[in-house]
Amino acid sequence: MSILINKEKNIFSINTLNVSYVLGIDDEGLIRNLYWGKNISDIEDFNIIKLEEVSSNDPVYEITPEEYPVYGGLRYKEHCLKINFSDGTRDLKYKYLKYTSTDNSLLIKLRDEYYDLEINLHYKIHEKYDLIERYVTLKNNTSDIIEVEKIYSGQFHIPYENLNFRNVHGHWGAEQQMFTQKVGYGKIYIENRRGISTHNHNPYFILDKDAKETCGEVFFGALKLSGNFSGIVEQTPYGETLVQLGINPHDFTLELKPGEEFKTPAIIAGYTNEGFEKMSHNLHNYGKNELMRDGLRDILYNSWEATEFKVNAEEQIKLAKKAKELGAELFVVDDGWFGERDGIDNGLGDWYVNENKFPKGLNQLIDEVKSMGMKFGIWFEPEMVNPRSKLYKDNPDWIYNFKTRESDTSRGQYVLNLSKDEVKDFVYNTLDKMLSTYDIDYIKWDANRPIAQSDVKKDIWFRHIKNLYDIVRKLKDKYKKVYFEACASGGGRIDYGSLEVFDDFWTSDNTDAYDRLKIQDSYSYIYPIKAMRAWVTDCPNFLSKREIPLRFRFHSAMMGTLGIGSNILKYTKEEAEIAKDLISEYKSIRHIIQDGDFYRIENTSSNDYYIYQYLKDNEGVVFIFLPQSKIGHIGARFKLRGLEENKKYKVEYLDEAIEKTGGYLMKYGLDIRLQGDYNSCILKLNSTLN
Ligand code: GLA
Repeated sequence: MSILINKEKNIFSINTLNVSYVLGIDDEGLIRNLYWGKNISDIEDFNIIKLEEVSSNDPVYEITPEEYPVYGGLRYKEHCLKINFSDGTRDLKYKYLKYTSTDNSLLIKLRDEYYDLEINLHYKIHEKYDLIERYVTLKNNTSDIIEVEKIYSGQFHIPYENLNFRNVHGHWGAEQQMFTQKVGYGKIYIENRRGISTHNHNPYFILDKDAKETCGEVFFGALKLSGNFSGIVEQTPYGETLVQLGINPHDFTLELKPGEEFKTPAIIAGYTNEGFEKMSHNLHNYGKNELMRDGLRDILYNSWEATEFKVNAEEQIKLAKKAKELGAELFVVDDGWFGERDGIDNGLGDWYVNENKFPKGLNQLIDEVKSMGMKFGIWFEPEMVNPRSKLYKDNPDWIYNFKTRESDTSRGQYVLNLSKDEVKDFVYNTLDKMLSTYDIDYIKWDANRPIAQSDVKKDIWFRHIKNLYDIVRKLKDKYKKVYFEACASGGGRIDYGSLEVFDDFWTSDNTDAYDRLKIQDSYSYIYPIKAMRAWVTDCPNFLSKREIPLRFRFHSAMMGTLGIGSNILKYTKEEAEIAKDLISEYKSIRHIIQDGDFYRIENTSSNDYYIYQYLKDNEGVVFIFLPQSKIGHIGARFKLRGLEENKKYKVEYLDEAIEKTGGYLMKYGLDIRLQGDYNSCILKLNSTLN
């Protein structure tokens, strides 16, 4: 049984395959976290030890590892919930009402002692992925408005000090730069205040006790939210580390009207004592199997880097023909096809096909694309408007603005106030009209600036993103075949909130194949490879100015869902041949890449090899990159993982083919030696011979 309950002791044990998460209600009526770690099958072993006030400065509230601490009473610690009642009371005092449970869910119902405010703690089990999902609902049963100043989705307790904390930092073109830092005393605070993008930090935590890829304890959690989030990690003075995650309380207040209910975004959390690899596998499998659509992702061609805003039907058709010739399956027209869009400062909001660019209409291009047997995709930035647009002229009050302030433009554009019903309808109707008029298979949904001069209502940071999710969900419901790509100036919308709604992540505008290795490596800790869109683009790269051989660029992009973003009309014959071959190779291995298990293989060489393995059933693929050879005669020995000990594997590597047992490949490993700069290769594994 997944949920075990001891009614007398009021103890609840939530169990996945290998993990137990235990909480209970103590004498004081506080919901106390009792355990999070490797499975303990017998709930009877747990007791709730009475906690005594240590001193007047260490009251019981402070020393109790509360499951969901609220602001109120003798609590000075970080809380998850802060409420202002209409009479000015700002002190919350909850009492436990009851629980309800099913085989895979638990609900702990709390209520304020005086005011009829329900606080419900929800837990859901994803058993085979060793993950639990938590969220909180609030229900205002009073006849007054209740103001919520802060509402986090949950708090976790880790019974250790001196942990390592991992997250990413970054900025545009440099997303997913993973960092590790020791957790000492004081607090670590990560957040996003921009409403739109998260190039900077990402809404998750990884806390480990000196874990490695394949061993050691790791506690982790990811928030299903693309908007303003924050997270706090704190090593407390009482010998534990706590971590909280939720909607950022910065510039946030929620008004809960009488009868209204509010649901926080959920956190998907897990524990493993088998290192980072297991954490990634559990999250990847959950993402792939439970959130994402089945089926392999198409190889797309996107015209952005080739044409930028200079879109025209003739050239797009030429690009489409060439893309088809090379092996692409989906042709995506990026920015520049609509309104008077000739640069960043015009056209957003006017979502009609530009007649100068498409004199015979958009269908001319779509028909060509379809007649070649490709799918058709198109770029939108639905939440935005340029001051120079008809939409803005007609609806100047649709943007985020304070009456006495002029709103700031960024990239020459304003953000539409998506929390207004008429704006939400406009965005939905625009997309609905496009999708019902044209045979579109794929929408790249972009958002190229953060929100500013937001709104008088301080919950807009959350409402904006919630309304965005609603729109995309509704569109996907109506247009079942259409896939949606989440993009925000590159990888600004990579999170589990997006993954629940979108199908693809545009990983970064940084398409430099070498920079991408680091970005993709960090990405892989939390997010499934199947959602990681990666393009091959031209050199010198527009951002890094680096020249990298085409084969290396392809190999780097083939690590995710492959896309081509080059100006393929300029490809030489030789480049076109390389592209054709590698696209066709990708087609033969993409089921392993997109649906298989992903391994970050340890590099033991003094050369900086990057080695990644994918494994699905009897087949495997290994990508090996050597960006720069340091000492030419030194190669690397690397050990494969996840193979079957006694099975024989055929290993194809460059022009060689050898046969070895899984045991040998995992223990001795393979010797490789690449030379030169930006060298790379793909190694294939197959055990179907047995
Ligand atoms: C953003 C996206 C790019 C491209 C441009 C178009 O920067 O990340 O891929 O779509 O917008 O303006």
